Amino acid sequence: NMNPKSLIVIFGATGDLAKRKLFPSIYQLYEKGKLSEEFAVVGVARRPLSNDEFRNYVRQSVENALRQELSDLSFVSHFYYHPFDVTDIASYQQLKTLLAQLDETYHTDGNRIFYLAMAPEFFGTITSRLKSEGLTATNGWKRLVIEKPFGHDFRSAQQLNVEIRQSFAEHEIYRIDHYLGKEMVQNIEVIRFSNAIFEPLWNNRFISNIQITSSETLGVEDRGRYYDHSGALRDMVQNHMLQMVALLAMEPPIKLTTDDIRSEKVKVLRALRPISHDEVDQYFVRGQYGRGIVNGKEVISYREENNVDPNSNTETFVAGKLMIDNFRWAGVPFYIRTGKRMTEKSTKIVVQFKDVPMNLYYRTNEKIQPNLLIIHIQPDEGITLHLNGKKSGENMKTTPIELDYCNNCIDGINTPEAYEKLLYDCMRGDATNFTHWDEVAASWQFVDPISEVWESTKAADFPNYEAGSMGPKASDALLEKDGFRWWPIH
Ligand code: BG6
Repeated sequence: NMNPKSLIVIFGATGDLAKRKLFPSIYQLYEKGKLSEEFAVVGVARRPLSNDEFRNYVRQSVENALRQELSDLSFVSHFYYHPFDVTDIASYQQLKTLLAQLDETYHTDGNRIFYLAMAPEFFGTITSRLKSEGLTATNGWKRLVIEKPFGHDFRSAQQLNVEIRQSFAEHEIYRIDHYLGKEMVQNIEVIRFSNAIFEPLWNNRFISNIQITSSETLGVEDRGRYYDHSGALRDMVQNHMLQMVALLAMEPPIKLTTDDIRSEKVKVLRALRPISHDEVDQYFVRGQYGRGIVNGKEVISYREENNVDPNSNTETFVAGKLMIDNFRWAGVPFYIRTGKRMTEKSTKIVVQFKDVPMNLYYRTNEKIQPNLLIIHIQPDEGITLHLNGKKSGENMKTTPIELDYCNNCIDGINTPEAYEKLLYDCMRGDATNFTHWDEVAASWQFVDPISEVWESTKAADFPNYEAGSMGPKASDALLEKDGFRWWPIH
Protein backbone atom coordinates (compact mmCIF):
# COMPACT_ATOMS: atom_id res chain seq x y z
CA ASN A 1 0.00 0.00 0.00
CA MET A 2 1.66 3.20 -1.15
CA ASN A 3 -0.73 5.58 0.61
CA PRO A 4 -1.12 4.14 4.05
CA LYS A 5 -3.91 5.44 6.26
CA SER A 6 -3.12 6.02 9.88
CA LEU A 7 -3.36 8.11 13.00
CA ILE A 8 0.02 9.30 14.20
CA VAL A 9 0.30 10.09 17.87
CA ILE A 10 3.42 12.06 18.71
CA PHE A 11 4.45 12.13 22.36
CA GLY A 12 6.70 15.11 22.88
CA ALA A 13 4.96 17.18 20.21
CA THR A 14 6.32 20.48 21.51
CA GLY A 15 9.89 19.19 21.58
CA ASP A 16 12.81 19.86 19.36
CA LEU A 17 12.65 16.70 17.25
CA ALA A 18 8.98 17.15 16.38
CA LYS A 19 9.58 20.73 15.37
CA ARG A 20 12.77 20.26 13.38
CA LYS A 21 12.20 16.87 11.80
CA LEU A 22 8.82 15.23 12.27
CA PHE A 23 6.37 17.94 11.20
CA PRO A 24 8.45 18.93 8.17
CA SER A 25 8.78 15.26 7.18
CA ILE A 26 5.05 14.64 7.46
CA TYR A 27 4.49 17.73 5.38
CA GLN A 28 6.86 16.52 2.68
CA LEU A 29 5.09 13.19 2.50
CA TYR A 30 1.78 15.00 2.23
CA GLU A 31 3.08 17.31 -0.48
CA LYS A 32 4.40 14.42 -2.51
CA GLY A 33 1.07 12.65 -2.29
CA LYS A 34 2.54 9.81 -0.26
CA LEU A 35 0.04 10.24 2.53
CA SER A 36 -3.54 9.37 2.00
CA GLU A 37 -5.90 12.27 2.72
CA GLU A 38 -7.07 9.99 5.46
CA PHE A 39 -4.58 10.68 8.17
CA ALA A 40 -4.45 12.69 11.35
CA VAL A 41 -1.67 13.62 13.73
CA VAL A 42 -2.27 14.00 17.43
CA GLY A 43 0.35 16.00 19.26
CA VAL A 44 0.72 15.04 22.88
CA ALA A 45 2.71 17.06 25.40
CA ARG A 46 2.44 18.59 28.82
CA ARG A 47 1.77 22.24 28.10
CA PRO A 48 -1.84 23.29 27.49
CA LEU A 49 -2.47 24.27 23.87
CA SER A 50 -5.61 24.50 21.80
CA ASN A 51 -5.86 22.75 18.44
CA ASP A 52 -5.53 26.12 16.76
CA GLU A 53 -2.43 27.06 18.68
CA PHE A 54 -0.93 23.70 17.90
CA ARG A 55 -1.74 24.00 14.19
CA ASN A 56 -0.07 27.35 14.14
CA TYR A 57 2.96 25.87 15.82
CA VAL A 58 3.09 23.04 13.28
CA ARG A 59 2.73 25.49 10.44
CA GLN A 60 5.58 27.62 11.75
CA SER A 61 7.80 24.59 12.24
CA VAL A 62 7.24 23.49 8.67
CA GLU A 63 7.76 26.98 7.32
CA ASN A 64 10.98 27.40 9.28
CA ALA A 65 12.33 24.03 8.26
CA LEU A 66 11.49 24.40 4.59
CA ARG A 67 12.02 28.15 4.40
CA GLN A 68 8.79 28.65 2.52
CA GLU A 69 5.29 29.77 3.36
CA LEU A 70 2.44 27.32 3.39
CA SER A 71 -0.27 28.65 1.16
CA ASP A 72 -2.56 25.69 1.55
CA LEU A 73 -3.63 25.21 5.14
CA SER A 74 -5.51 21.98 4.63
CA PHE A 75 -2.36 20.18 5.78
CA VAL A 76 -2.45 21.57 9.31
CA SER A 77 -6.17 20.86 9.64
CA HIS A 78 -5.14 17.22 10.10
CA PHE A 79 -3.37 18.11 13.37
CA TYR A 80 -4.91 17.84 16.84
CA TYR A 81 -3.51 18.52 20.25
CA HIS A 82 -3.93 16.61 23.47
CA PRO A 83 -2.46 18.07 26.69
CA PHE A 84 -1.22 15.24 28.77
CA ASP A 85 0.33 14.08 32.00
CA VAL A 86 2.40 10.92 31.57
CA THR A 87 1.34 9.39 34.85
CA ASP A 88 -2.32 10.39 34.88
CA ILE A 89 -4.72 7.62 33.84
CA ALA A 90 -7.41 10.11 32.88
CA SER A 91 -5.07 11.60 30.26
CA TYR A 92 -4.89 8.24 28.51
CA GLN A 93 -8.65 7.79 28.68
CA GLN A 94 -9.22 11.15 27.02
CA LEU A 95 -6.64 10.37 24.38
CA LYS A 96 -8.38 7.09 23.71
CA THR A 97 -11.69 8.86 23.14
CA LEU A 98 -10.03 11.36 20.84
CA LEU A 99 -8.39 8.61 18.80
CA ALA A 100 -11.69 6.78 18.43
CA GLN A 101 -13.34 9.96 17.12
CA LEU A 102 -10.52 10.71 14.68
CA ASP A 103 -10.58 7.17 13.50
CA GLU A 104 -14.17 7.71 12.42
CA THR A 105 -13.61 11.12 10.92
CA TYR A 106 -10.60 10.03 8.87
CA HIS A 107 -11.51 6.39 8.20
CA THR A 108 -8.11 5.27 9.38
CA ASP A 109 -9.25 1.72 10.05
CA GLY A 110 -7.82 1.69 13.57
CA ASN A 111 -4.23 2.01 12.30
CA ARG A 112 -2.07 3.76 14.87
CA ILE A 113 1.49 4.90 15.14
CA PHE A 114 2.66 5.89 18.59
CA TYR A 115 5.79 7.96 18.24
CA LEU A 116 7.83 8.51 21.39
CA ALA A 117 9.85 11.66 20.77
CA MET A 118 10.56 12.59 24.34
CA ALA A 119 12.64 11.90 27.43
CA PRO A 120 13.46 8.19 27.53
CA GLU A 121 12.66 7.83 31.23
CA PHE A 122 8.97 7.81 30.28
CA PHE A 123 9.10 5.25 27.47
CA GLY A 124 8.19 2.36 29.75
CA THR A 125 5.40 4.16 31.59
CA ILE A 126 3.78 5.35 28.41
CA THR A 127 3.80 2.01 26.64
CA SER A 128 2.40 0.17 29.61
CA ARG A 129 -0.40 2.73 30.05
CA LEU A 130 -1.21 2.61 26.35
CA LYS A 131 -1.93 -1.03 26.85
CA SER A 132 -3.61 -0.95 30.26
CA GLU A 133 -5.94 1.86 29.17
CA GLY A 134 -6.87 0.09 25.97
CA LEU A 135 -5.24 2.38 23.41
CA THR A 136 -3.41 -0.46 21.80
CA ALA A 137 -6.55 -2.57 21.47
CA THR A 138 -7.40 -1.48 17.98
CA ASN A 139 -8.91 -3.15 14.95
CA GLY A 140 -6.11 -2.01 12.70
CA TRP A 141 -2.36 -2.28 13.11
CA LYS A 142 -0.40 -0.55 15.84
CA ARG A 143 3.23 0.46 15.77
CA LEU A 144 5.58 2.02 18.27
CA VAL A 145 8.32 4.33 17.06
CA ILE A 146 10.97 4.88 19.64
CA GLU A 147 13.78 7.39 19.58
CA LYS A 148 17.22 6.92 21.00
CA PRO A 149 18.73 6.52 23.47
CA PHE A 150 17.49 2.96 23.79
CA GLY A 151 18.91 2.40 27.27
CA HIS A 152 22.14 3.56 28.83
CA ASP A 153 23.88 0.21 28.74
CA PHE A 154 22.91 -3.38 28.03
CA ARG A 155 21.14 -3.91 31.34
CA SER A 156 18.95 -0.81 31.15
CA ALA A 157 18.24 -1.41 27.46
CA GLN A 158 17.10 -4.91 28.26
CA GLN A 159 14.90 -3.65 31.05
CA LEU A 160 13.33 -1.08 28.74
CA ASN A 161 12.85 -3.71 26.10
CA VAL A 162 11.07 -6.04 28.49
CA GLU A 163 8.78 -3.19 29.46
CA ILE A 164 7.78 -2.16 25.98
CA ARG A 165 7.48 -5.74 24.81
CA GLN A 166 4.62 -6.17 27.26
CA SER A 167 2.58 -3.82 25.09
CA PHE A 168 4.09 -4.21 21.61
CA ALA A 169 5.46 -7.23 19.76
CA GLU A 170 8.97 -7.02 18.32
CA HIS A 171 7.62 -6.59 14.78
CA GLU A 172 5.55 -3.62 15.96
CA ILE A 173 8.55 -1.80 17.42
CA TYR A 174 10.42 0.66 15.21
CA ARG A 175 13.63 1.71 16.93
CA ILE A 176 14.93 4.75 15.12
CA ASP A 177 18.52 5.07 14.06
CA HIS A 178 18.31 8.03 11.72
CA TYR A 179 21.57 7.08 10.01
CA LEU A 180 19.67 4.18 8.47
CA GLY A 181 17.46 6.71 6.73
CA LYS A 182 20.36 8.48 5.05
CA GLU A 183 20.45 8.02 1.31
CA MET A 184 24.11 6.97 1.11
CA VAL A 185 23.91 4.68 4.12
CA GLN A 186 21.14 2.86 2.28
CA ASN A 187 23.37 2.90 -0.76
CA ILE A 188 26.12 0.84 0.95
CA GLU A 189 24.14 -2.30 0.38
CA VAL A 190 23.43 -1.47 -3.25
CA ILE A 191 27.04 -0.58 -4.02
CA ARG A 192 28.20 -3.83 -2.48
CA PHE A 193 25.65 -6.27 -3.78
CA SER A 194 24.88 -4.98 -7.24
CA ASN A 195 28.40 -4.49 -8.55
CA ALA A 196 30.42 -7.38 -9.85
CA ILE A 197 33.63 -5.42 -9.37
CA PHE A 198 33.22 -4.91 -5.63
CA GLU A 199 31.64 -7.92 -4.02
CA PRO A 200 34.39 -10.39 -5.06
CA LEU A 201 36.97 -8.07 -3.47
CA TRP A 202 34.96 -7.35 -0.35
CA ASN A 203 36.92 -9.48 2.11
CA ASN A 204 40.21 -9.93 3.91
CA ARG A 205 42.07 -11.07 0.82
CA PHE A 206 41.73 -7.71 -0.89
CA ILE A 207 40.78 -5.14 1.71
CA SER A 208 43.44 -3.95 4.11
CA ASN A 209 41.28 -1.80 6.40
CA ILE A 210 38.09 0.23 6.50
CA GLN A 211 37.81 3.67 8.07
CA ILE A 212 34.59 5.34 9.11
CA THR A 213 34.66 8.95 10.22
CA SER A 214 31.69 10.94 11.41
CA SER A 215 32.89 14.35 12.48
CA GLU A 216 30.86 17.29 13.68
CA THR A 217 31.70 20.94 14.11
CA LEU A 218 28.94 21.59 16.64
CA GLY A 219 29.63 21.31 20.34
CA VAL A 220 27.03 20.00 22.78
CA GLU A 221 24.80 23.06 22.22
CA ASP A 222 21.93 22.99 24.72
CA ARG A 223 22.13 19.26 25.34
CA GLY A 224 24.73 19.29 28.12
CA ARG A 225 22.40 17.69 30.60
CA TYR A 226 21.88 14.64 28.40
CA TYR A 227 25.29 14.53 26.80
CA ASP A 228 27.39 14.78 29.93
CA HIS A 229 25.84 11.50 31.08
CA SER A 230 26.13 9.93 27.69
CA GLY A 231 29.30 10.82 25.83
CA ALA A 232 30.27 10.06 22.25
CA LEU A 233 30.51 6.30 22.76
CA ARG A 234 26.85 5.97 23.72
CA ASP A 235 25.64 8.87 21.61
CA MET A 236 27.22 7.86 18.31
CA VAL A 237 29.18 4.60 18.47
CA GLN A 238 26.66 2.22 20.02
CA ASN A 239 24.14 3.11 17.34
CA HIS A 240 25.15 5.00 14.18
CA MET A 241 28.77 3.89 13.87
CA LEU A 242 28.10 0.23 14.60
CA GLN A 243 25.17 0.24 12.20
CA MET A 244 27.47 1.43 9.43
CA VAL A 245 29.99 -1.26 10.36
CA ALA A 246 27.23 -3.86 10.16
CA LEU A 247 26.13 -2.73 6.71
CA LEU A 248 29.70 -2.71 5.43
CA ALA A 249 30.55 -6.10 6.82
CA MET A 250 27.39 -8.19 6.53
CA GLU A 251 27.05 -11.19 4.26
CA PRO A 252 24.72 -10.85 1.28
CA PRO A 253 21.21 -11.44 2.59
CA ILE A 254 19.28 -14.29 1.01
CA LYS A 255 16.62 -11.84 -0.09
CA LEU A 256 16.02 -8.17 0.52
CA THR A 257 13.49 -8.79 3.24
CA THR A 258 13.53 -7.17 6.64
CA ASP A 259 14.29 -10.40 8.46
CA ASP A 260 17.01 -11.52 6.08
CA ILE A 261 18.85 -8.22 6.20
CA ARG A 262 18.55 -7.73 9.91
CA SER A 263 19.74 -11.22 10.68
CA GLU A 264 22.89 -10.66 8.60
CA LYS A 265 23.56 -7.42 10.47
CA VAL A 266 23.10 -9.12 13.81
CA LYS A 267 25.67 -11.72 12.84
CA VAL A 268 28.25 -9.02 12.24
CA LEU A 269 27.58 -7.39 15.58
CA ARG A 270 27.89 -10.75 17.28
CA ALA A 271 31.17 -11.40 15.52
CA LEU A 272 32.75 -8.20 16.85
CA ARG A 273 35.75 -9.21 18.90
CA PRO A 274 34.82 -8.43 22.50
CA ILE A 275 37.11 -5.98 24.20
CA SER A 276 37.96 -6.80 27.77
CA HIS A 277 38.59 -4.16 30.41
CA ASP A 278 42.35 -4.38 30.17
CA GLU A 279 42.32 -4.22 26.37
CA VAL A 280 40.34 -0.99 26.11
CA ASP A 281 43.43 1.23 25.83
CA GLN A 282 44.78 -0.93 23.07
CA TYR A 283 41.64 -0.65 20.92
CA PHE A 284 39.96 2.62 21.88
CA VAL A 285 40.89 6.24 22.32
CA ARG A 286 38.80 8.88 24.03
CA GLY A 287 38.98 12.62 23.65
CA GLN A 288 37.40 15.77 25.00
CA TYR A 289 37.57 19.12 23.27
CA GLY A 290 39.28 22.14 24.70
CA ARG A 291 38.97 25.67 23.39
CA GLY A 292 39.80 26.33 19.82
CA ILE A 293 38.68 27.75 16.53
CA VAL A 294 35.91 26.12 14.51
CA ASN A 295 34.90 27.53 11.14
CA GLY A 296 36.85 30.67 11.93
CA LYS A 297 35.14 31.27 15.26
CA GLU A 298 36.60 30.93 18.74
CA VAL A 299 34.71 28.43 20.84
CA ILE A 300 34.79 27.41 24.50
CA SER A 301 35.91 24.07 25.83
CA TYR A 302 33.54 21.24 26.64
CA ARG A 303 33.96 21.74 30.37
CA GLU A 304 32.82 25.34 30.03
CA GLU A 305 29.56 24.44 28.26
CA ASN A 306 26.16 24.83 29.93
CA ASN A 307 25.03 21.98 32.16
CA VAL A 308 28.40 20.26 31.90
CA ASP A 309 30.42 19.37 34.97
CA PRO A 310 33.51 21.67 35.04
CA ASN A 311 35.59 18.57 35.79
CA SER A 312 33.72 16.37 33.37
CA ASN A 313 35.26 13.05 32.45
CA THR A 314 32.85 12.61 29.52
CA GLU A 315 34.33 11.92 26.10
CA THR A 316 33.29 14.05 23.14
CA PHE A 317 35.47 12.06 20.75
CA VAL A 318 36.02 8.35 20.23
CA ALA A 319 38.35 6.49 17.93
CA GLY A 320 38.36 2.73 17.90
CA LYS A 321 39.65 -0.33 16.18
CA LEU A 322 37.15 -3.10 15.70
CA MET A 323 37.94 -6.60 14.64
CA ILE A 324 35.29 -8.85 13.16
CA ASP A 325 36.20 -12.38 13.89
CA ASN A 326 34.63 -14.28 11.02
CA PHE A 327 35.92 -15.86 7.82
CA ARG A 328 35.37 -12.82 5.64
CA TRP A 329 36.96 -10.25 7.89
CA ALA A 330 39.57 -11.97 10.02
CA GLY A 331 42.60 -9.67 10.17
CA VAL A 332 40.94 -6.57 8.70
CA PRO A 333 40.67 -3.66 11.13
CA PHE A 334 37.61 -1.43 10.97
CA TYR A 335 38.63 1.94 12.34
CA ILE A 336 35.94 4.31 13.50
CA ARG A 337 36.13 7.85 14.80
CA THR A 338 33.53 10.39 15.72
CA GLY A 339 33.51 13.58 17.69
CA LYS A 340 32.13 17.01 18.38
CA ARG A 341 33.95 20.25 17.57
CA MET A 342 36.12 18.75 14.89
CA THR A 343 37.41 20.36 11.72
CA GLU A 344 34.35 19.82 9.59
CA LYS A 345 30.94 18.24 9.48
CA SER A 346 31.39 15.09 7.49
CA THR A 347 30.58 11.41 7.42
CA LYS A 348 32.71 9.25 5.16
CA ILE A 349 33.73 5.67 4.72
CA VAL A 350 37.10 4.81 3.23
CA VAL A 351 37.69 1.27 2.05
CA GLN A 352 41.42 0.75 1.57
CA PHE A 353 42.40 -2.11 -0.71
CA LYS A 354 45.58 -4.09 -0.31
CA ASP A 355 48.59 -3.16 -2.39
CA VAL A 356 49.26 -4.89 -5.68
CA PRO A 357 51.46 -7.95 -5.16
CA MET A 358 54.47 -6.34 -6.78
CA ASN A 359 55.29 -2.74 -7.59
CA LEU A 360 56.65 -2.62 -11.13
CA TYR A 361 56.98 1.12 -10.96
CA TYR A 362 59.13 1.30 -7.88
CA ARG A 363 62.11 2.80 -9.70
CA THR A 364 60.16 5.82 -10.79
CA ASN A 365 57.70 6.13 -7.93
CA GLU A 366 58.32 5.97 -4.23
CA LYS A 367 55.04 4.25 -3.71
CA ILE A 368 51.88 3.51 -5.62
CA GLN A 369 48.79 4.83 -3.86
CA PRO A 370 46.53 2.07 -2.60
CA ASN A 371 43.13 1.89 -4.23
CA LEU A 372 40.48 3.53 -2.11
CA LEU A 373 36.75 3.42 -2.40
CA ILE A 374 35.30 6.39 -0.58
CA ILE A 375 31.63 6.49 0.24
CA HIS A 376 30.56 10.03 1.01
CA ILE A 377 27.57 9.93 3.34
CA GLN A 378 27.29 13.65 4.12
CA PRO A 379 27.26 16.55 3.48
CA ASP A 380 28.11 15.57 -0.08
CA GLU A 381 26.69 12.25 -1.23
CA GLY A 382 28.59 10.09 -3.63
CA ILE A 383 31.37 7.65 -4.32
CA THR A 384 34.98 8.22 -5.25
CA LEU A 385 37.27 5.51 -6.51
CA HIS A 386 41.01 6.18 -6.27
CA LEU A 387 43.05 4.43 -8.93
CA ASN A 388 46.51 4.77 -10.45
CA GLY A 389 47.08 5.65 -14.06
CA LYS A 390 49.92 6.59 -16.28
CA LYS A 391 51.28 10.05 -15.99
CA SER A 392 50.94 11.44 -19.48
CA GLY A 393 54.10 12.35 -21.24
CA GLU A 394 56.26 10.51 -18.76
CA ASN A 395 57.67 7.08 -19.11
CA MET A 396 56.24 4.56 -16.72
CA LYS A 397 55.30 7.01 -14.07
CA THR A 398 52.02 6.59 -12.30
CA THR A 399 49.64 9.26 -11.16
CA PRO A 400 46.60 9.06 -8.91
CA ILE A 401 43.25 9.18 -10.68
CA GLU A 402 39.89 9.78 -9.05
CA LEU A 403 36.61 8.55 -10.45
CA ASP A 404 33.89 10.60 -8.88
CA TYR A 405 30.20 10.02 -8.68
CA CYS A 406 28.16 12.68 -6.99
CA ASN A 407 24.72 11.60 -5.93
CA ASN A 408 23.28 14.86 -4.73
CA CYS A 409 24.55 16.64 -7.80
CA ILE A 410 21.99 14.60 -9.68
CA ASP A 411 18.98 14.40 -7.44
CA GLY A 412 20.08 16.27 -4.35
CA ILE A 413 17.15 18.61 -4.20
CA ASN A 414 14.75 15.73 -4.30
CA THR A 415 16.64 13.57 -1.83
CA PRO A 416 14.22 13.04 1.00
CA GLU A 417 15.44 13.61 4.50
CA ALA A 418 16.17 10.61 6.67
CA TYR A 419 13.14 11.14 8.88
CA GLU A 420 10.81 11.46 5.95
CA LYS A 421 11.90 8.10 4.60
CA LEU A 422 11.78 6.41 7.97
CA LEU A 423 8.30 7.71 8.78
CA TYR A 424 7.05 6.53 5.44
CA ASP A 425 8.65 3.12 5.96
CA CYS A 426 6.93 2.86 9.30
CA MET A 427 3.54 3.74 7.82
CA ARG A 428 4.01 1.05 5.22
CA GLY A 429 5.12 -1.44 7.82
CA ASP A 430 8.68 -1.79 6.57
CA ALA A 431 11.02 -2.15 9.55
CA THR A 432 14.18 -2.89 7.55
CA ASN A 433 15.81 0.43 8.32
CA PHE A 434 15.07 0.28 12.02
CA THR A 435 17.11 -1.59 14.58
CA HIS A 436 15.97 -4.95 15.85
CA TRP A 437 16.36 -5.67 19.54
CA ASP A 438 19.08 -8.22 18.79
CA GLU A 439 21.17 -5.51 17.12
CA VAL A 440 20.69 -3.14 20.03
CA ALA A 441 21.60 -5.86 22.49
CA ALA A 442 24.76 -6.91 20.65
CA SER A 443 25.95 -3.33 20.27
CA TRP A 444 25.50 -2.52 23.94
CA GLN A 445 27.31 -5.69 24.87
CA PHE A 446 30.23 -4.62 22.75
CA VAL A 447 30.28 -1.05 24.05
CA ASP A 448 29.68 -1.68 27.76
CA PRO A 449 33.18 -2.79 28.82
CA ILE A 450 34.63 0.31 27.18
CA SER A 451 32.32 2.71 28.99
CA GLU A 452 32.86 0.83 32.24
CA VAL A 453 36.58 1.43 32.03
CA TRP A 454 36.19 5.04 30.94
CA GLU A 455 33.75 5.82 33.70
CA SER A 456 35.87 4.31 36.40
CA THR A 457 39.17 5.86 35.34
CA LYS A 458 39.63 9.58 35.10
CA ALA A 459 41.14 10.75 31.82
CA ALA A 460 44.09 12.70 33.19
CA ASP A 461 44.77 14.46 29.89
CA PHE A 462 41.27 15.91 29.27
CA PRO A 463 40.80 18.18 27.42
CA ASN A 464 43.12 16.50 24.96
CA TYR A 465 42.13 17.93 21.61
CA GLU A 466 41.69 21.42 20.42
CA ALA A 467 38.29 22.40 19.07
CA GLY A 468 38.53 22.48 15.29
CA SER A 469 41.04 19.64 15.08
CA MET A 470 40.67 16.00 14.07
CA GLY A 471 40.89 14.72 17.64
CA PRO A 472 43.69 13.72 20.01
CA LYS A 473 47.09 12.50 18.81
CA ALA A 474 46.36 9.07 20.21
CA SER A 475 43.74 8.66 17.49
CA ASP A 476 46.45 8.90 14.83
CA ALA A 477 48.71 6.64 16.83
CA LEU A 478 46.00 3.99 16.92
CA LEU A 479 46.40 3.48 13.16
CA GLU A 480 50.10 4.18 12.99
CA LYS A 481 50.90 1.23 15.17
CA ASP A 482 49.19 -0.97 12.56
CA GLY A 483 51.09 0.76 9.74
CA PHE A 484 48.06 2.79 8.55
CA ARG A 485 46.89 6.35 8.71
CA TRP A 486 43.56 8.12 8.58
CA TRP A 487 42.92 9.15 5.00
CA PRO A 488 41.98 12.78 4.64
CA ILE A 489 38.22 13.06 4.48
CA HIS A 490 37.77 15.96 2.10
C1 BG6 B 1 22.46 12.09 17.08
C2 BG6 B 1 23.31 12.45 18.24
O1 BG6 B 1 22.01 10.77 17.20
O2 BG6 B 1 23.22 12.21 15.89
C3 BG6 B 1 23.87 13.86 18.10
O3 BG6 B 1 22.56 12.37 19.45
C4 BG6 B 1 24.57 14.00 16.77
O4 BG6 B 1 24.75 14.17 19.16
C5 BG6 B 1 23.69 13.51 15.63
O5 BG6 B 1 24.86 15.37 16.60
C6 BG6 B 1 24.46 13.50 14.33
O6 BG6 B 1 23.57 13.26 13.29
P1 BG6 B 1 23.83 13.81 11.83
O7 BG6 B 1 22.68 13.31 11.02
O8 BG6 B 1 23.88 15.31 11.92
O9 BG6 B 1 25.15 13.24 11.41
